[in-house]
Amino acid sequence: MKENYTALYPNEEVALKVGDYSYEHSTKLPKHITDHHTWGVETQERSNYMISPLQAQFQVWMAKAIGAKRILEIGTFIGFSTMGWAEAVGPSGHVTALEFSPEYVAIAEESFAKNGIKNVEVVVGDAKESIKKLSETVKDPYDLIFIDADKTSYPTYLEQTLEYSQPGSSTRLLRPGGIIIADNILRRALIAGPRYPSPSPDANPWAAKERERTWRETDMAALHKFNDMMVQSSRLETFLMPMFDGLGMGRLVD
Ligand SMILES: C[S@@+](CC[C@H](N)C(=O)[O-])C[C@H]1O[C@@H](n2cnc3c(N)ncnc32)[C@H](O)[C@@H]1O
Repeated sequence: MKENYTALYPNEEVALKVGDYSYEHSTKLPKHITDHHTWGVETQERSNYMISPLQAQFQVWMAKAIGAKRILEIGTFIGFSTMGWAEAVGPSGHVTALEFSPEYVAIAEESFAKNGIKNVEVVVGDAKESIKKLSETVKDPYDLIFIDADKTSYPTYLEQTLEYSQPGSSTRLLRPGGIIIADNILRRALIAGPRYPSPSPDANPWAAKERERTWRETDMAALHKFNDMMVQSSRLETFLMPMFDGLGMGRLVD
């Protein structure tokens, strides 16, 4: 398609069919990971926090494509996306997962133990504090940092990543050439367009409902700021991928 836009699907049914088709034509996730997603959907009130299996396929693929061996995840929930990262880096790699809620951490750790996943360390607490502490102790830099926690802190997570990854520093968070991936940066398209009306509320009431559900003034302001910071930083090469709920991707140049 030569045009520079992502076609909006006419309705939820078509969107789901396209997603399922893409899922079937992408390398499968191991069964224990898809089982955890299914279990999360069936049992967790906030299961919509999880990325989709299709997005997990993309993330595993991307991590392997860059040869990632060390990944930092900000926002772990019950450990679904974490399991994808753990798979991508392999047993000799390492994933550091940051999560605020001890309740979610307990679920994630139980699932890791049950599935013999030994290459993940979960750090409980406010990610901003955890990142600061990590930056003081980290020996080897991360290859990839995944941002998927509270939207209002996205600008801070990016500032911290850049500040704690200074060129020439012996201790740095992200390596030169390392990748940042931030989830939900389009917020059901709200970020790129007006709140009302949605591009075609009558033609696509499903999309309009989704926009309404995810609207929060503070989140919107923070995500606008984050997206601007990403593209304006001279230290990053960026690509905003308008898939899933919007993935902000940056490559650290120095
Ligand atoms: C969208 S969910 C993460 C979902 C997960 N990445 C997945 O796809 O399976 C965001 C998580 O970030 C956590 N969180 C929110 N604010 C946080 C903070 N300041 N520090 C650490 N974790 C936080 C929430 O408790 C929640 O579990």
